[in-house]
Amino acid sequence: MSESWKPAELAQVRTSYDRGALAEGDLPAAPLAPFAAWLREATEAGLAEPNAMALATVDGAGRPAARMVLLKGVDAAGFRFFTNYGSRKAQALAANPQASLLFPWHGLHRQVEVRGAAERMSTEESAAYFRTRPRNSQLAAWASEQSAPLAGRAALEARMAELQARWPEGTEIPAPEFWGGYLVRAESVEFWHGRESRLHDRLRYEALRPAAPLDDPAAWRVRRFAP
Ligand SMILES: Cc1cc2nc3c(=O)[nH]c(=O)nc-3n(C[C@H](O)[C@H](O)[C@H](O)COP(=O)(O)O)c2cc1C
Repeated sequence: MSESWKPAELAQVRTSYDRGALAEGDLPAAPLAPFAAWLREATEAGLAEPNAMALATVDGAGRPAARMVLLKGVDAAGFRFFTNYGSRKAQALAANPQASLLFPWHGLHRQVEVRGAAERMSTEESAAYFRTRPRNSQLAAWASEQSAPLAGRAALEARMAELQARWPEGTEIPAPEFWGGYLVRAESVEFWHGRESRLHDRLRYEALRPAAPLDDPAAWRVRRFAP
C-alpha cells in the first residue's frame, strides 16, 4: 500500500451522482418534515450511523474545530445532542454559541447542514435522557473528563472500575452535573443533493425570525443556491 496519495490517484476517486434530485416542489414550507424524511431514508438505506453529524464550533480565539456527535432528538424546537460540559466543544460554545451541524449521508449522495445557536438543555431534560442510557454509558460519562489529557488508558480504566464499585448493579447512577445536552435552534437548514456533472441541487431554508419552529410553514423561506 502506498504511504501517500498523489493528486493523480485521488483524481480516480470520483463518484457519479446519479441517485435522484431535489426540486423546489419536493419541499414543504417548513424544514422539519423533509429532514425527518431524509434521516429515515438514510436509516432505511442502511447507512452507518445515520444520526451521526459533524458539529463545528469556533472558539473565543476564532479557531474552528469539528467532531462527530450523535443526534439524539429533533423536533420543532431544534436539534439535540449530549456531551460533557467541560469539553473543548462546550468551552467553544460558551464563548461563541454559533454551531454548524453536518449530516454526511454520502451513500445517498446527500448532505444536510444546519446552522444556529446552541443552548444548554435544562438539568431535568438532560437527566431524563441520562436515565435512558445503558449503565456503562452512564458510568463512562462520569469516568471521562472529556478533552483533558490522560496519563494513559490505564488511568481511564481504573476510574471506570472505581465508579463501578461506587454504584454497583441495582443502584441508580445520577446524571453528572458536568454532562448534559444542547439544543441547536436552526437559523438555516440546507438540503444538498448530488447531481450529474457537479450541477448539484442546494435548497436552503432560512428562518424569517429568531427561534423559528422547524414545523411552522410561515416561519421559513426556501432559496436555491449555486452548487
Ligand atoms: C460517530 C461518532 C459519534 C460520537 N458521538 C458523540 C456524542 O454524541 N457526544 C460526545 O460528546 N462525543 C461524541 N463523539 C466523540 C467526539 O467526536 C469527540 O471526540 C469528543 O466529544 C471530544 O470532542 P471535543 O474535545 O472537541 O469537545 C462521537 C464520535 C464519533 C466518531
